[in-house]
Amino acid sequence: MPGAAPTPPPLWAAYFAYPAYRKKNDKVNSYQERLQGCMTYSMNGKAPPLGSPELVAFAAYSYWLGMGALMDKYGVPGPVPELDDEELLKGGKGDDFPLPDAIVRALPVDERGKLPGRGYPLVEKPTGGYSPQRGETVYRQHCQLCHGADGQGYASAGIPTLPPLWGPDSFNWGAGMHRVNTAAYFIHENMPLGKSIQLTPQQAWDVAAYINSRERPQDPRFDGSVEKLRQRYHQHTGYYGQSVDGGPVLGAKAYPNFPPQQDSGD
Ligand code: HEC
Repeated sequence: MPGAAPTPPPLWAAYFAYPAYRKKNDKVNSYQERLQGCMTYSMNGKAPPLGSPELVAFAAYSYWLGMGALMDKYGVPGPVPELDDEELLKGGKGDDFPLPDAIVRALPVDERGKLPGRGYPLVEKPTGGYSPQRGETVYRQHCQLCHGADGQGYASAGIPTLPPLWGPDSFNWGAGMHRVNTAAYFIHENMPLGKSIQLTPQQAWDVAAYINSRERPQDPRFDGSVEKLRQRYHQHTGYYGQSVDGGPVLGAKAYPNFPPQQDSGD
């Protein structure tokens, strides 16, 4: 899972990268606001309110992982110090965040957002570009076994175990994963699960283009106009507001946000 392996973006590295400015909502985000973003966009769900026990619990877990790793690395003995909820929710990048002296000396505030494992290793865009059609072939060979021929993944006893990659239950048009470049980096490093770094950069970009050129739930920042939203928030490598191969404009028939939980069966 993304929190546990060294290369996909781990929770503990993110913890020490906040508070930080995000273009996504044009303000400085605390760690709890960043977590809300994961739930609103990547999970296409409804985030618990600021200060809620759920966000405190996620923040505490992230802090405990990250702080434990830093204490090991810089030779600070003892258990991870406890923090009050308010401090936990801000994230570890603040000037006044309580850290043992040995860690403050080794890791100035500006360096804290760059802990190893943060973000994805970049995979250069192929010089000849990328193609959803070629990506479909890659998908059939390397992905559909787990994510389904129809991209809808699988659930076991009603709980999704293999995530859908497009359609009503997938990440939405506001999630970072809808960008072709971001998905290509993630896929190249982590997929097919258990056999990572199997695809060539070309295959990773092509298959990222394939899954991201299909309809999915609406960008939660949508306020009635796909074109306006495209201009304001989608000036990047993605297909929102565009037509692929003469198909419908993507985003125009997007699925709803916060869908009710459905029993998706098999
Ligand atoms: C062996 C099963 C398996 C195979 C094969 C596989 N995946 Fe996955 N994939 C998973 C699981 C499990 C997850 C969720 C856990 C995770 O994100 O690490 C996942 C997550 C993902 C996600 C993130 C979804 C999200 O909601 O953020 C993407 C994108 C993805 N896979 C793409 C691919 C692509 C493209 C391929 C083919 C190159 C592929 N996967 C092959 C099992 C698999």
